[in-house]
Amino acid sequence: LITITSIAELRDITDRARRDGRSIGLVPTMGSLHVGHRSLVRAARAVDDVVVLTIFVNSLQFGPNEDFDAYPRDLAADAEVAEADGVDVLFAPPVVEMYPDRMRTAVHVAELTEGLCGESRPTHFDGVTTIVAKLFSIVGPCRAYFGRKDFQQLVVVGRMARDLDFPVEVVGCPLVREPDGLARSSRNGYLSAEERRAAGVLSKALFWASETIVHGERDVDALVETIRRVVAMEPSVHLEYVEVRTTDHLARVKVLDGEVLVAVAARVGSTRLIDNVTVTLGTEGVTADLGVVAYGP
Ligand code: PAF
Repeated sequence: LITITSIAELRDITDRARRDGRSIGLVPTMGSLHVGHRSLVRAARAVDDVVVLTIFVNSLQFGPNEDFDAYPRDLAADAEVAEADGVDVLFAPPVVEMYPDRMRTAVHVAELTEGLCGESRPTHFDGVTTIVAKLFSIVGPCRAYFGRKDFQQLVVVGRMARDLDFPVEVVGCPLVREPDGLARSSRNGYLSAEERRAAGVLSKALFWASETIVHGERDVDALVETIRRVVAMEPSVHLEYVEVRTTDHLARVKVLDGEVLVAVAARVGSTRLIDNVTVTLGTEGVTADLGVVAYGP
């Protein structure tokens, strides 16, 4: 593992690797690495010759009252994880390297960023696409790995890469869960023991909802109602939204058909959590993608 902090160095390393015929796998993160990030590294490791992991807590994607200051930062621990997982290059730039002057440029993806998390976090996705565009521009042709937990982010980044002709293949990887179903997130660390227990209701509601689809439910309003009822069993979990959208354009759906995203966001205490499942309703039946359970840190 080599740890670097300068854009010029990262450009140089990735240019040289490609000249030597080696493919690049890029895993952008904000650090606080957990088994979800590690599964992205594993996916990259399986197909790419050089795995670049980036760690940068990107101020642009946090709203004014969000957790930018509290966001966990532990570069030494993250470097150990990266090394153990076979990352080749760890890029951990200081803020002045990425934002040496006030940013006057922003990348905005229209429509796809408006509903779902965009509703309560109106500047979030512009922050994400701006930093990811910078990373794509620095690293150059590569495969870039993103988790399906942030499903809207995955769709938005994929669309940005396509619209702006970045020579980057955006790869979506399975959502990773705790053994009780809770979606892995760096923010789970904010939860008290009681909040952590209660938060389990989100995945339970989504699993139950996907079960009802498998058993014939086709009405979106009824499905949303089912999820609301299950989550209401934990009064400390406050739903922000329950939405059913198409997985490709995130369009609202009225009747379940094709591949659909069932997504929730909720507050548990002061922690905001998101989760989703996708369900495919095809001629050969119904299949649900609930993500995968992974053990370990
Ligand atoms: O998913 C994340 O951790 C961040 O949004 C990303 C993609 C690293 C951009 O800062």
